Amino acid sequence: MGFRKDFAWGAATSSYQIEGAAYEDGKGWNIWDVFCKEEGRIFSSHTGDIACDHYHRFREDVEIMKSLGMKAYRFSINWARILPMGEGKVNEKGIMFYSDLIDALLEGGIEPFITLYHWELPYELYKKGGWMNEDMVTWFGEYAALVSERFSDRVTHFFTLNEPQCFVGLGFLEGVHAPGVTAPVRDTFTMSHIALKAHGMAVKQLREHAKQDIFVGYAPTGTMSYPDSDKPEDIEAARLHLFSLPDDLSQWTWNVSWWSDPVVFGEYPEEGLKKYREYLPTITKDDMKLISQPIDSYAQNIYNGHRIRMGADGKPEMVKRYDGFPKTALDWPVTPECLYWGPKFLYDRYQLPIYITENGLSCHDTVSVDGQVHDPNRIDFLYRYLKCLKQAAEDGSDIKGYFQWSLMDNFEWHSGYAERFGLVYVDYHTQKRIIKDSGYWYKKLIESNGDILI
Ligand code: FCB
Repeated sequence: MGFRKDFAWGAATSSYQIEGAAYEDGKGWNIWDVFCKEEGRIFSSHTGDIACDHYHRFREDVEIMKSLGMKAYRFSINWARILPMGEGKVNEKGIMFYSDLIDALLEGGIEPFITLYHWELPYELYKKGGWMNEDMVTWFGEYAALVSERFSDRVTHFFTLNEPQCFVGLGFLEGVHAPGVTAPVRDTFTMSHIALKAHGMAVKQLREHAKQDIFVGYAPTGTMSYPDSDKPEDIEAARLHLFSLPDDLSQWTWNVSWWSDPVVFGEYPEEGLKKYREYLPTITKDDMKLISQPIDSYAQNIYNGHRIRMGADGKPEMVKRYDGFPKTALDWPVTPECLYWGPKFLYDRYQLPIYITENGLSCHDTVSVDGQVHDPNRIDFLYRYLKCLKQAAEDGSDIKGYFQWSLMDNFEWHSGYAERFGLVYVDYHTQKRIIKDSGYWYKKLIESNGDILI
């Protein structure tokens, strides 16, 4: 019992958040390169220009992963690093960087998991309309073909989009993420539809150009729902709540089913088709066929959840969090139950093997007088969450892997370097890495394949 023997224990990162080398070796700009330069967008005007300097230090970072016994590593490709204009001419130096990284990982016994899009929209494509332009489907497909062509001789695991909820919602509704636009609601539905078609095209292209059998998934996010009690009606309420859709249009992207039902079932949820009717683009049968290309796994980024009970009116209702509810440094609630009920509900609905592609927390980490970074809160958080995940696996959900967010402290989008999510501390002045206590704990956890979670 416990986790499967071949469980992929890993950590995740994304290119803009760690690589730096923003203007080197022929890399093109992406929307974050542009966005971060604008006064007032990012905490303290931080940028990812240097970030963790991973572009130059990746060998050291792979050594760290190796020393922690990691089995898998999820990273993203910076689209404009390999295709500076977003399409057309390939930048061989960019290809070489990822190729060397992949080789180093494989030499270290670490399985690479590539994310194609962790929000790195090439600026040149943005200028042509980006996610509003139907051509994105072709461009994303060509990019996926190139990635498959060049890397699938060694890489067999791919994810297409990371958290479309965020890049559409935060990028184009709230405008707090790049490109910092507040678009009409209608446009955001158009973008979401184009993004889903681009996902489908990428699945096709990855497979068509693969040098061997590959496994393709997709990595949306979502706040999970968990029941207030073991009563069947509360469990049902939590399930209903998880797959329901917001009424508030300014918040519409924060849901699971609009983004995942089309991918797995080839259909948008009925509830949304009704609720959002006035804002939807034309949706054809062919679109849905493209969107629902078969995938091999269902991935989900999970950080927290809402406690739900069945209300007297027969509708799910949210249970208010008590005063002083546990929270992370970023004020996100600590709700370990979401890593039991989330995967369970998702597995029940989508019937695909599950990867948790992100989970973790930011803490107020500092270097102590002994030169070490003591982060008991992170160990406690991971222990509680992973114990729930283990229980979900034991109760029958097919869970294939877990990627802690994040391998190292990095550029946390509009919070800049103010938040520290890593198992490894990064001193941004010297670029020195220090493995935190949680990193050493994670190593023990991996060695025991989760058996230390009792
Ligand atoms: C997720 C993002 C990831 C990181 C974590 C904290 O929404 O995918 O890049 O910022 O949150």
